[in-house]
Amino acid sequence: MSFLKLSKAIQGMAFFTLTLTSSLAVSAPDAAAGKAKAQVCAACHGEQGVSAIPGVPHLAAQPPLSVFYQLLQFRDQRRKGGGMEAIASNLSEQDMRDIAAHYAAQPAPPAQTGGDAAKIARGQTIAQQQYCSSCHGAQLQGQKHVPRLSGQASDYFTLQLRNLRSGARADMDGTMGSAARSLTDEEIDAMAVYSASLP
Ligand code: HEC
Ligand code: HEC
Repeated sequence: MSFLKLSKAIQGMAFFTLTLTSSLAVSAPDAAAGKAKAQVCAACHGEQGVSAIPGVPHLAAQPPLSVFYQLLQFRDQRRKGGGMEAIASNLSEQDMRDIAAHYAAQPAPPAQTGGDAAKIARGQTIAQQQYCSSCHGAQLQGQKHVPRLSGQASDYFTLQLRNLRSGARADMDGTMGSAARSLTDEEIDAMAVYSASLP
């Protein structure tokens, strides 16, 4: 993607974020209330948002807007998987914001530093070449509605990125789909190991 296209995409994203947020008049997110509401999530996502189950993502330290928007997408059946559509349909938007605030306040998932060093280095190079950090943050820690990737399980990362590439997972504004389109399986695997290794 060229820099010009990228900055257009980011402007588009900012507009998208603004329109969505301004249409929702709700009270401030309450992390303590969110902790109680997240009890039903803990069986899969872990008490503090660090999952012990393959295929279930870590939610700890995710930007709150990212968790909120993903839950909205599940509720509206624009994203499907893991039975999350049914779970999200039981939540109010206030519940979603409270739960998102709870997970955002948890310590980040532990970095998985045991990966193949050559693969980690290759993943870092590709991530730099592809400007992933322009949206996901310098340490891929996520920001605004863009998910945190650092410390995320590499099998989850790989599956999601393949689905975003193929369109099997629709993304909210099309920017991630176009960022993924030209990636090979090998590049995705290397970036998955790299991002899992980040604190
Ligand atoms: C039965 C297990 C289970 C339960 C209970 C559960 N989840 Fe999930 N959740 C999953 C799985 C599996 C996925 C991955 C779905 C996929 O493959 O796309 C997921 C994905 C998510 C995602 C997307 C994260 C990302 O970055 O892609 C969010 C947000 C989420 N869940 C929040 C919740 C919340 C909040 C609750 C409780 C109200 C909850 N989940 C309960 C299994 C579960
Ligand atoms: C233009 C901004 C942008 C760029 C550049 C970008 N991403 Fe994303 N990415 C997003 C957004 C927004 C989402 C959330 C998509 C959705 O569900 O709507 C996302 C989602 C993801 C996910 C799914 C994470 C999860 O928890 O569900 C992965 C993996 C990912 N991106 C990896 C990458 C990689 C690797 C690169 C570089 C090749 C990259 N992204 C470049 C904006 C971007």
